Amino acid sequence: MVSLYYTDPVWVSNPPVWRKGRLRSRIIGMDVFQIEGPVRLAGHVEVNGSKNAGLPIMAATLLAPGRSTLVGVPRLADISVCMDLIRQMGCEVQRQDDGLLAIDATKIDNPVGPYDIVRKMRASICILGPLLARCGRVEVSMPGGCAIGDRPINLHLIGLKQLGARIHLKSGYVIAEAPEGLKGASIFLGGPFGSTVLGTANVMMAAVLAKGRTIIESAACEPEVADLANCLNAMGARISGIGSPRLVIDGVTHLHPVQYRVIPDRIEAGTFMAAAAATAGEVHIDHCRPDDMMAVVDRLRRMGITVEPNGDGCTVVGREDIEPTDITTQPYPGFPTDLQAQFMAVLALAHGNSIVIEKIFPDRFMHVAELNRMAANLRKEGSVVIVAGVKKLVAAPVMASDLRASAALVVAGLAAEGTTTINRVYHIDRGYERIEERLNRLGARIRREEGGTV
Ligand code: EPU
Repeated sequence: MVSLYYTDPVWVSNPPVWRKGRLRSRIIGMDVFQIEGPVRLAGHVEVNGSKNAGLPIMAATLLAPGRSTLVGVPRLADISVCMDLIRQMGCEVQRQDDGLLAIDATKIDNPVGPYDIVRKMRASICILGPLLARCGRVEVSMPGGCAIGDRPINLHLIGLKQLGARIHLKSGYVIAEAPEGLKGASIFLGGPFGSTVLGTANVMMAAVLAKGRTIIESAACEPEVADLANCLNAMGARISGIGSPRLVIDGVTHLHPVQYRVIPDRIEAGTFMAAAAATAGEVHIDHCRPDDMMAVVDRLRRMGITVEPNGDGCTVVGREDIEPTDITTQPYPGFPTDLQAQFMAVLALAHGNSIVIEKIFPDRFMHVAELNRMAANLRKEGSVVIVAGVKKLVAAPVMASDLRASAALVVAGLAAEGTTTINRVYHIDRGYERIEERLNRLGARIRREEGGTV
């Protein structure tokens, strides 16, 4: 029997059909990658705007009545979900011919994040802060857990409560109200795994319209949070301490629409770096900010990989003989959890033992078993993986389980001998725009085929 326990892809009208004795899916978005390896990547690739900066910045435009335009927001499945989310509130959202994303938030008549949208993308939660501040009431479906762990939102709610919001849960929805407006407060936002990225975004977006001063201690310092703060300031907010763990926000009475360019995607850049390293390639990564990626650059250099920053990006030169090293994921400026899987694929090819410790999402290891199917030698012990380097990876059919795990399988597939089949590549489409075309321009041999097995 076909089991459809995942939610993103949608059945099209025609039912599943038997082909070559197997039940084949007819599901939109169930494409498959066939990756022929090994290859050596070479050439230039340009990094797109950041998904994780773009999503909260789209939510921030809801704070100001009028039409904002965003530059560099990538064309990704998650961004389309966010566009739908904002549309159903009563706003106009349009991708213009010039690629700019226009959001007209003159009117918001339905400040709600419905289950059907939030279940597709948990980052939908970042409408909580701006809608509460603008409309005085918001309802958002509680996001569930996902392939990378439990993902609670308690810190978001604690922060908003301290700003004066009344919050209760009803039928799976968070309902937050502040009919009299919000009031500045001193808020500590640290949790058991450090700061919270979207929690900081939510509380900051609520605080910009609160009366008086808000101080957020243990704020997330990620470049995406700093980009959001810079965008809010461009809309008339008064935030200082941007990029530090102590944000000081002096509330204003209103914000105005903005034209704003989002920063380049450091996780996409890091994924291309991993691909260059795993294939002993030479890749010029344009439009990236190595200064935002010091921990990543440091690890690459320890692996013997050359990273040379230049004007608008950097050049990464890999080598056959990869040095083993240790990686511990941490909040920024530490090594990002969003690159842990891709770098594990590289370390799988090092000439010795490495250790990878996951300190943000201790269960984010769905890629381990799949990489082992490709002849990697990985042993998971709790939130630690011991990586015994192997001489080569070998192609196999594998299953993408989440966005970054699937990126790791692509990196491994480029280096592996034979044809790797990656099922469920809709996961990768959530965060990487046409990655196969961009890698193919670097010499990869990736074919996208419609309809994988369920
Ligand atoms: N946490 C709590 N309570 C909260 C919120 C978070 O305990 O209320 C914990 C989480 O369980 C986790 C840690 O704090 O252990 C950090 O989670 P965080 O809130 O920072 O994650 P997030 O904001 O939900 C964003 C990115 C993720 C990225 C994390 C960590 C977006 C849209 N998502 O998620 O990106 O992994 O920060 O850097 O910005 C991805 O792009 O693949 C992705 C998952």
